[in-house]
Amino acid sequence: MRKILVVNPKGGSGKSTLSTHLASWFAWQEARVMLGDLDKQHSSHHWLDLRPETLPRIERWDIGADQIARPPKGCQVAILDTPACFGSAKLKKVLKIVDHVVVPLLPSAFDLWAIADFFDELAEMKAVRRDEVQVGAVGMRINSRTQSAQQLPEFLHKFDIPLITTIRDTQLYNQTIQRGMTLFDLPHSKTQRDREEWQPLIDWIMKR
Ligand SMILES: Nc1ncnc2c1ncn2[C@@H]1O[C@H](COP(=O)(O)OP(=O)(O)OP(=O)(O)O)[C@@H](O)[C@H]1O
Ligand SMILES: [Mg+2]
Repeated sequence: MRKILVVNPKGGSGKSTLSTHLASWFAWQEARVMLGDLDKQHSSHHWLDLRPETLPRIERWDIGADQIARPPKGCQVAILDTPACFGSAKLKKVLKIVDHVVVPLLPSAFDLWAIADFFDELAEMKAVRRDEVQVGAVGMRINSRTQSAQQLPEFLHKFDIPLITTIRDTQLYNQTIQRGMTLFDLPHSKTQRDREEWQPLIDWIMKR
């Protein structure tokens, strides 16, 4: 079973977009996927409620911040979306039940300042020190021609966190999310370029 935590204490960094896209990608591979949502706004679970029944099924993982427990038996991929301002006590608890931590990151100064403390905190966590979880970052809404996007790998290098991939800024994300879908639910011909951007993240998750 693969258990993936999607976390960044900064609001609007792309956690729910990343969580729902991973869930949908694995669902298309015919895996039994469960999507948990610790956010009181329940963005990922709202999305799940809208998901058309004709699309590959993603199950709701009912996990609450006060009842952190492993995903049910039989689940092959569990993805956990988290809220902004996710505190250390909760982080410590969830790190015990996951094997991958994915941090979506916007390439703005405000976002990078905010994440620096979080990366320091993460590095102190037992599960990370013992290499029980893999931590990787994903650049979100990236325009590769901008200077801020080019600074991202250098920034992450300071924390020894790999930049797994970057995802471009496109309205396709918002357009599909509001219909309970993701880019992976659209025809390949329309999304080839975007699928290629996601592939390194999938490979990284599958590697271990
Ligand atoms: N690659 C992208 N291109 C364009 N828009 C994007 C992209 N990724 C995310 N967005 C948009 O950015 C906004 C914030 O994304 P999202 O809700 O996934 O962030 P979040 O970290 O879950 O936010 P919160 O902290 O409030 O839970 C959404 O409107 C989403 O559609
Ligand atoms: Mg969210």
